[in-house]
Amino acid sequence: MDRFRLDGKVCVVTGGARGIGRAIACGLKDAGGAVVLADIDLQGAQRCAQELGTDAVQLDVTDSLSIGHAFDTVVARYGRIDVLVNNAGIVRNTAATETDDASWRAVLAVNLDGVFYCSRQAGRRMLQQGGGCIVNLASMSGSIANRPQPQASYNASKAAVIHLTKSLAGEWASGNVRVNAISPGYVATELTQAGLANEAWRNAWLDGTPMRRLARPDEIAPAVIFLASDASSFMTGADLVIDGGYTLW
Ligand SMILES: NC(=O)c1ccc[n+]([C@@H]2O[C@H](COP(=O)([O-])OP(=O)(O)OC[C@H]3O[C@@H](n4cnc5c(N)ncnc54)[C@H](O)[C@@H]3O)[C@@H](O)[C@H]2O)c1
Repeated sequence: MDRFRLDGKVCVVTGGARGIGRAIACGLKDAGGAVVLADIDLQGAQRCAQELGTDAVQLDVTDSLSIGHAFDTVVARYGRIDVLVNNAGIVRNTAATETDDASWRAVLAVNLDGVFYCSRQAGRRMLQQGGGCIVNLASMSGSIANRPQPQASYNASKAAVIHLTKSLAGEWASGNVRVNAISPGYVATELTQAGLANEAWRNAWLDGTPMRRLARPDEIAPAVIFLASDASSFMTGADLVIDGGYTLW
């Protein structure tokens, strides 16, 4: 089990103030990592950091300058970044015909630009220091189109994250930087709360999931520990699906 340990590894989790990011931060810390929650919601991140015994910085993944400041702060405090978890994400459930440019851009800016901007800055540092691991939170929505709720921008952004993961993995493999993705199915967080409250949506989500339930955030975290640790030392460019069977039907 030692190969799953992250002792001495400096881990940054974007969108770590709540939900899946919080559970991932908790798991990385349990595995021995020094964890920094990086969120646009500084107060929420600081509160969460206090509860988990981790650190927090503010960052907006859509803004390269903000990412630069946040990563400089992490390096000033800890000397390096070994693991980056690109977890920050948003969804807009609007019909394609009702989705204006600003809404489309907002989703792509956080979910796709944010993953690229953070990976680019962390990747430079990792290549320079001789290695690192990046784990991207994609989604089963990158492989299937969810129903009944409309979310074309989200689905397109997650499909792009899966392919961006492969592209960066290919570029950086020789530099000992591994890049992998995780694709959860429905997970009970604030992101899915409104959908769960809608009976038609909830029924469709449960009917479409062979295991007939949503995941808890702590059911996603162990896969991140795996992909961030030496336990996955020959894996790069992969997309791990954790969806209670949703995509098998
Ligand atoms: N919940 C699900 O069912 C589900 C399923 C598949 C994939 N995912 C993905 O998992 C990730 C986490 O989802 P969640 O359900 O925990 O969401 P959530 O809404 O509970 O948490 C998202 C976090 O991201 C932060 N954030 C938002 N915009 C940001 C920005 N510009 N810069 C920095 N931080 C920002 C928020 O403040 C929040 O703390 C997302 O990428 C999401 O798309 C979620």
